[in-house]
Amino acid sequence: MRRAVCPGSYDPATNGHLDIVERAAELFDEVVVAVLINKKKQGLFSVEERMEMLRATTAHLSNVRVDSWHGLLVDYCRDNGIAAIAKGLRSVSDFDYELQMAQMNRELSGVETLLMSNNPTYSYLSSSLVKEVATYGGDVTGMVPDLVRDRLRTKFPDS
Ligand code: PNS
Repeated sequence: MRRAVCPGSYDPATNGHLDIVERAAELFDEVVVAVLINKKKQGLFSVEERMEMLRATTAHLSNVRVDSWHGLLVDYCRDNGIAAIAKGLRSVSDFDYELQMAQMNRELSGVETLLMSNNPTYSYLSSSLVKEVATYGGDVTGMVPDLVRDRLRTKFPDS
């Protein structure tokens, strides 16, 4: 069984994230979308809400499951028999940090990281920008799944 993890905060998932998950699901027997819990960062959505939205938006992918984890990603990989971390690269500025994390994770545990080039359609997208736009009532249709867009609207009903 070739198993990979797509880790992230997913607060919330964007179409850029989901594109990477879909493509990883074609390469691996099983893909775990893991919501990494950062107790220092107060998210807009609770971890349960993020997981529920991810479950709904990946339901069409039979080899994808959703989980959460608090701690080192390499420990999650070890405990779950995961040999590869799959992530998307939007730009050169992403690359510096992603390479550093990939090297650290490999040093810590030998786990490999697959850095996949993002679909250029989504290269400008980030969860934080989407949240900022939604905060001020901007339309994020096409940037996130419709379900996520609707949940954002319920978070900012007056905008
Ligand atoms: O969506 P994000 O916030 O860019 O994802 C970053 C994330 C959660 C994948 C990264 O911060 C991470 O792996 N955190 C888990 C803790 C850990 O293993 N830190 C060491 C990384 S080398």
